[in-house]
Amino acid sequence: MKNTYYKLIEQSFKFPQEGFKVEDNFLTFHGVSLKNLIEKYGTPFRLFYLPNIGEKINSAKKIFNQAISKYNYKGAYHYCYCTKSNHFSHVVNAALNENVHLETSSSFDIDLILNLFKEKKINNKLIVINNGYKTTEYLKKIISLHDFGFENVIVVLDNKSELDRLTNLLKGSHKKIKIGIRMAINEEAQSSYYTSRMGIRHSEIIDFHNLNIKNNKSVELKMLHFYIDSGIKDSLYFWGEFKKALKLYVDLNKQSSSLNSFNIGGGFPIRNNLGFDYDYEHIADSIIKNIKESCEANKVIDPNIFTEYGKYTVGESGAIVFKVLEQKQQNDNENWYLINNSLMNTIPDAWSIKEKFILLPVNKWDNDYKRANIGGISCDHSDYYNSEDFNQEVLLPSYSKKDNEPLYLGFFHTGAYQDAISGYGGIKHCLIPSPKQIIIEKDEEGNLIDYVYRNEQSAEEMFKLLGYK
Ligand SMILES: Cc1ncc(COP(=O)(O)O)c(C=O)c1O
Repeated sequence: MKNTYYKLIEQSFKFPQEGFKVEDNFLTFHGVSLKNLIEKYGTPFRLFYLPNIGEKINSAKKIFNQAISKYNYKGAYHYCYCTKSNHFSHVVNAALNENVHLETSSSFDIDLILNLFKEKKINNKLIVINNGYKTTEYLKKIISLHDFGFENVIVVLDNKSELDRLTNLLKGSHKKIKIGIRMAINEEAQSSYYTSRMGIRHSEIIDFHNLNIKNNKSVELKMLHFYIDSGIKDSLYFWGEFKKALKLYVDLNKQSSSLNSFNIGGGFPIRNNLGFDYDYEHIADSIIKNIKESCEANKVIDPNIFTEYGKYTVGESGAIVFKVLEQKQQNDNENWYLINNSLMNTIPDAWSIKEKFILLPVNKWDNDYKRANIGGISCDHSDYYNSEDFNQEVLLPSYSKKDNEPLYLGFFHTGAYQDAISGYGGIKHCLIPSPKQIIIEKDEEGNLIDYVYRNEQSAEEMFKLLGYK
């Protein structure tokens, strides 16, 4: 009996599974034939399946609102999209179609908000949460949003000095700006530092509020914010930090009559291996239950709840597909599949923070399988991928060099952060171009359509950036 790659996957995981299915020996992603896309556009390509964005947003809204009804919770749930996870207009527009609010991280993000406003993609009732370090330029632009009637802008203070800068910029005006305070979290034990540099020390927040915010006529405290950057997990560490923030909210609420919102940041995880198992509903239920119980015990009104999911919103909509150019046996154990672009350039999180993505072959599912290292074509020794979150090794279909059909490989759920970190269309390591980008969306009749958003980067585009004529 032949040990096919398909049998390996079927026996190791629940397969087919959401988003992945094999038809005629070729993988489909969210029901889209990758074979057709390869034939139509050639590889490599980056792909965005936009309908997934709405599905994810609605699924999170549903589970939070279910818990809100179950516990007779009085506050509202607000889903904010964290723009830094993917700024492309098609992605932001897909999120906005689901009535989300937005979270910003820097000065240019405010230009993005104004651009969306001028294009009538948003109105000025939108809630805009401003995170990140507030340079004077960023603060000035945030204040300018008020001139366009944006009254639901909440500046989340990352540092105490931001309040002075903001207050100085508001001197002489009658504007009152809504603010939040970000609580600095303690990191997980294995982290290289103990307390996050983001936010204000937990122990200093009440005094800071009483001395500088309570009687400040230019600002009004609305929100307590915290964000666990290692993600929302059902772990002692997560719930420990969560309960610390909740206690602070309750204590701060006793000092502030305007405080009414609790922002738990981003951190909803995505599937990064086929064995991923996460109970989103249970987590949302526990978040609401904990807040409700604490507010009831302390006679505090249930706050509005904000989340700022980035990766969760857009991660699972993205994929990148390569062709294996060559296989190379470098010793008895190590076999390399060399792909037609660079992994460092296209999925930079894989080498920089050892992020895992779902890696699957697109074709040859009926073939035998073997261990393989995947190498990019840059000359950098770090341009490789050789372990998966689940297996610690990469197993892929084997094939003979005489086989005319190339092997195609896909990295899936790559929709968040990869383009921003790599710098889409910028100067690339070893001058290997950014791959073409394909978008799949639904037309007005609900039919799926695909088109090229950008072709592969050209040598001229790169040389222009480098100052060559
Ligand atoms: C303040 C804040 N909110 C939200 C996010 C989004 O996090 P994620 O993509 O893990 O949901 C980040 C990510 O860095 C962040 O810094």
